[in-house]
Amino acid sequence: MNRPTTAAHAAPAIAAPSYVTNAKLKQWVTEIAELTQPDRVYWCDGSQEEYDRLCNEMVDSGMLIRLSQEKRPNSFLARSDPDDVARMEDRTFVCSKNKEDAGPNNNWVAPDDMRATLGNLFKGCMRGRTLYVIPFSMGPLGSHIAHIGVELTDSPYVVVSMRIMTRIGRKVLDILGPDGYFVPCLHSIGAPLAPGQKDVVWPSNKEHKYIVHFPETKEIWSFGSGYGGNALLGKKCFALRIASIMGREQGWLAEHMLILGIQPPGGKKYYIAGAFPSACGKTNLAMLIPPAALKGWKVTTVGEDIAWIKPHADGRLYAINPEAGAFGVAPGTSEKTNANCLEAVKSDTIFTNVALTPDGDVWWEGLTKTPPKELIDWQGKPWAPDSGRLAAHPNSRFTVASHRIPSIDPDWNNPDGVPISAFLFGGRRATTVPLVVEAKDWESGVYLAATMASETTAAIIGKVGVVRRDPFAMLPFCGYHFGDYFKHWLQIGAGLKQPPKIFGVNWFRLDENGKFMWPGFGENMRVLKWIIERCEGKGGARQTPIGNMPRYEDMEWQGLDAISREVFAKLSEVDPVQWQGELKDHDELFQKLQSRLPQEIAEQRKQLGQAL
Ligand code: OXD
Ligand code: MN
Repeated sequence: MNRPTTAAHAAPAIAAPSYVTNAKLKQWVTEIAELTQPDRVYWCDGSQEEYDRLCNEMVDSGMLIRLSQEKRPNSFLARSDPDDVARMEDRTFVCSKNKEDAGPNNNWVAPDDMRATLGNLFKGCMRGRTLYVIPFSMGPLGSHIAHIGVELTDSPYVVVSMRIMTRIGRKVLDILGPDGYFVPCLHSIGAPLAPGQKDVVWPSNKEHKYIVHFPETKEIWSFGSGYGGNALLGKKCFALRIASIMGREQGWLAEHMLILGIQPPGGKKYYIAGAFPSACGKTNLAMLIPPAALKGWKVTTVGEDIAWIKPHADGRLYAINPEAGAFGVAPGTSEKTNANCLEAVKSDTIFTNVALTPDGDVWWEGLTKTPPKELIDWQGKPWAPDSGRLAAHPNSRFTVASHRIPSIDPDWNNPDGVPISAFLFGGRRATTVPLVVEAKDWESGVYLAATMASETTAAIIGKVGVVRRDPFAMLPFCGYHFGDYFKHWLQIGAGLKQPPKIFGVNWFRLDENGKFMWPGFGENMRVLKWIIERCEGKGGARQTPIGNMPRYEDMEWQGLDAISREVFAKLSEVDPVQWQGELKDHDELFQKLQSRLPQEIAEQRKQLGQAL
């Protein structure tokens, strides 16, 4: 039976169940168990029974709080350590043999030095704990676009989260077979327990945190944090950093993109993929509900964070969502901003760092206009509206299965993926960048994406509200030199018979009073409608120095009086002075990437300078 077995520290029971046939996997688990010295090794089968049992164990240990079965069935709340609340970009490393290959966009340490550091940290780091083996598939099981990973972790929170976020368990081992390839993903919270030592609610390592990628051997080693992208290694570590490297080697794309289906009334369905930096409303866009005035338009969700995209024999790009669940930011999610999401998290959801209501439900800023009179905040302290602090952490999250999203696309699980007609790139920009612009061609689209920028938010540790260049919304996620990445995009496009059109969007432009000019949320459908019409060769546009933009009369305005011709003109303004500053910023970025910047990008820069 696949049950945890207890053994002495020095010799954990590491024998794999008989159904595990992959020799490399068995050998790796043995090696890691010898290094980390867990009390037990447990192979996850991915069953509901296993999920329920682990959740119950965590409720008993205090790591999870069971929410009210009436208010929020089969759902839990976790509260992390206040020092372990977000991705840590300054503790994330790409350790390529050659420093230049990692690029200025990554922190780099020589692989041998990093292995020595990690070897010391991982030695005995799972003492007193269970090592869980989680075989997982990124993408529909057996899809030619999917890939397999195996995460070893000492965190049961990671196991249950991975069961929601990916496809895990025995069925993955069946596909892996005796000699299939997998990406080894090793994770430890870095908090061994001495015999008899009482555990804390959210164990982590206060002193040392490392999220490390070895590109040549395609390994991930993560130490010290139990939170989100630092610990659920299928997500940012594998599906973006390591997969971006695999994609470059194998001729495909791993992107920080949502995937949407859009169907005009009575028309054919189109799929678009959109790259947005963290916490830029990507989850809301992925689950958009069109306004009543755009009757008959349908929007469906394939993915809300990551897309794996491969060229197909028909000369088009096809995308899958490699994940099977959403790990979304809770604050700001409401009936108005994302009703589909609220419906999804009504049950069977793990919440992290949101507030707890007296009747066993959850709350976060923005969920309701008026906050409840009393709450327990994300740190477990009593809270009232006049407490003067946030009840939920700004990066608090829900973890929910994709199939629970009401707008989920019937083809979200299709192993062949969905054909992509357009790419969207959008940052959070208070000025300069217009509501929507269509790149003239693939190369100028790659330039547009390469030079995108956004104001930083709470999803990462660091300063909030600073404009930073975030090419393709991949700054924290591209596993190699951005110059090589731009080249890869140019090459992929050159090989396509029907390359997707490329658009830039900005929902966040402010007026002179600091107010958002564009209503956003469901009203973004008006921009998507124009984009689809452009894909169909129908929508009208005017040419500008930075690309094609809709004229006022090219957009659907029925049901939206707030946007007059004057406001639309401001939303679409390309201010020459602001754009001179923008070009200077582009040059600064290119300076950093100069040694590997493709000639085509330099040429695009020249042309844009002349056009402006
Ligand atoms: C995320 C992020 O959590 O981009 O998706 O930070
Ligand atoms: Mn993301």
